[in-house]
Amino acid sequence: MSRFFGKTGRSLVGALVLGAAAFLNAAPARAAGEAIVLPETRFSFEGLFGTYDRGSLQRGFQVYKEVCAACHAMRQLSYRNLLEIGLSEEQVRNIAAQFQVVDGPNDVGEMFERPARLSDRFRRPFPNENAARAANNGAYPPDLSVMTKARANGADYVHALLTGYSDPPEGFTLMEGMNYNRYFPGNQIAMPNVLNPDQVEYADGTAATVEQMARDVTTFLAWAAEPEAEQRRRMGVRIILFLIVLGGLTYAVKRKVWADVKGH
Ligand code: HEC
Repeated sequence: MSRFFGKTGRSLVGALVLGAAAFLNAAPARAAGEAIVLPETRFSFEGLFGTYDRGSLQRGFQVYKEVCAACHAMRQLSYRNLLEIGLSEEQVRNIAAQFQVVDGPNDVGEMFERPARLSDRFRRPFPNENAARAANNGAYPPDLSVMTKARANGADYVHALLTGYSDPPEGFTLMEGMNYNRYFPGNQIAMPNVLNPDQVEYADGTAATVEQMARDVTTFLAWAAEPEAEQRRRMGVRIILFLIVLGGLTYAVKRKVWADVKGH
């Protein structure tokens, strides 16, 4: 290798290899004693050519709207963002109109409620944090806008969390109002198991198994946190293709230029 890269080249390659090894090894840090191993889930949006499956996104939004939105806000999203997951403007207008949002003040200085419009942010389920805590055994249901980026292996984690409820193992004492979950740090979570078979009736006829709903809502949350990921990946692939072509051309030119010199 040294013949090709020289001394600085060698240490550079060394650093790259070390960096890659560290990156591949980086397991999520856990505060609790024993490590929780997340099952890996294969999502359509992973990998170099990954895209968000539009059907899954729309089903995932349905799960968020009908289940999660009772407790979790997504304040980074406006209703008009739903146009990006392939819903028509009329569909999105109808969805928005199902929610009442606070507006105002009006002519006489009072706040009032009106149906949401495309430009409104997703309605939050509770007026403030205290109200949210009071309704959830003292725990605060966090905003889900960037949840998949806020946790290590976010998509795998959210999917695991939603499918990780069970009765506690023998000898495990649950605190009052808490639920056992295999993948939540500490294994006690204030959020109840919210996904049961056929919890929602999918508009496209897909069978609403717990696994399917967890996968779809995770896909929707991953898109919400990183809507530009597809575009960025497409650009990355183009840049790599460009570099390969450029590399080939440079090599050809180099050979041509040096051909005469070697001849002598
Ligand atoms: C009945 C209210 C309620 C519903 C419905 C609900 N959650 Fe939660 N969720 C909570 C509460 C409360 C917490 C905070 C839990 C804690 O800290 O113990 C939470 C926490 C979370 C977390 C963060 C876990 C962490 O690592 O901190 C995620 C992710 C989550 N919920 C996803 C969802 C999704 C997705 C749905 C819909 C399928 C949903 N929740 C539906 C109440 C709810």
